[in-house]
Amino acid sequence: MGANDARKRSRREFLKLAGAAAAGVVMAGRPFAAGAAPAAAGRAMKIGIIGSGKIGGALGGHWARAGHEVLLSARNLGPVRKLAAEIGHKARAGTPREAAAFGEVVLVSVPYAALPQVGRDYAAELKGKPVLDTCNPIPRRDGDMAAAARAKGTGVASPGYLPGVRLVRAFNTVSYRAIRSEAHRKGEKVAIPLAGDDAEALRIAVQLVQDAGFEPVVVGGLARAVEFDTGTPAYGKALTARELRQRLKIGS
Ligand SMILES: NC(=O)c1ccc[n+]([C@@H]2O[C@H](COP(=O)([O-])OP(=O)(O)OC[C@H]3O[C@@H](n4cnc5c(N)ncnc54)[C@H](OP(=O)(O)O)[C@@H]3O)[C@@H](O)[C@H]2O)c1
Repeated sequence: MGANDARKRSRREFLKLAGAAAAGVVMAGRPFAAGAAPAAAGRAMKIGIIGSGKIGGALGGHWARAGHEVLLSARNLGPVRKLAAEIGHKARAGTPREAAAFGEVVLVSVPYAALPQVGRDYAAELKGKPVLDTCNPIPRRDGDMAAAARAKGTGVASPGYLPGVRLVRAFNTVSYRAIRSEAHRKGEKVAIPLAGDDAEALRIAVQLVQDAGFEPVVVGGLARAVEFDTGTPAYGKALTARELRQRLKIGS
């Protein structure tokens, strides 16, 4: 088998696993309360958000409006309290440790340089959980560790900083402006590429991308996150799934 065939087969296997897990969770989960969820296809989840700035704050709003219970956090509690009150629904504010403990799934959306501290300080709370990682290494902001992460690829570097979690790279390619304004848009939705090694975590990420109003494209295992890291053709634009697949050279 050639490398290309192996790559296609591995992606097909991921899609199959993620799909199978999706069916199980929808059947097993709590249904949304009547009137709560305009978009959610699966069950309501408890989502902890570590880093509730431009990306984490926007996603927290989308998920709360979709009927999820969201705990927004940052080191400085004032802005997250204000944000949670503005979002309403089941959004609340707390410390990063509380978010890590609260979430059955956790979004980590902090400057890349903060990942080592987040992974170290909240290791016990995060252990074994699906974690969606939006963080991009930007050397001018994050220093030398970001240059090293860029060289390795984030699908290799991030798990080193967040050991023991079921990591999915997600929501790293699209600007916060599009995350705010293009959610649930009519017609072809903006695509969000995903990479992860754990089928159930990927399944949850797929649901959360849909519930935020975007279209998930599962690219494959974590090693393939490098294909949509900063500087790649898949990065930095609000692409449709069709456009994204073309750029990634993957089938539907
Ligand atoms: N902006 C975009 O368009 C975009 C798009 C895709 C991906 N990303 C990536 O996603 C991540 C977040 O980006 P952003 O634009 O949302 O950043 P941001 O607006 O600066 O928000 C960062 C958030 O993280 C919190 N934070 C910082 N250090 C922390 C720590 N050690 N522990 C807990 N919380 C911490 C900040 O609040 P406190 O300082 O109060 O803790 C803030 O709430 C970055 O890695 C970025 O590269 C950004």
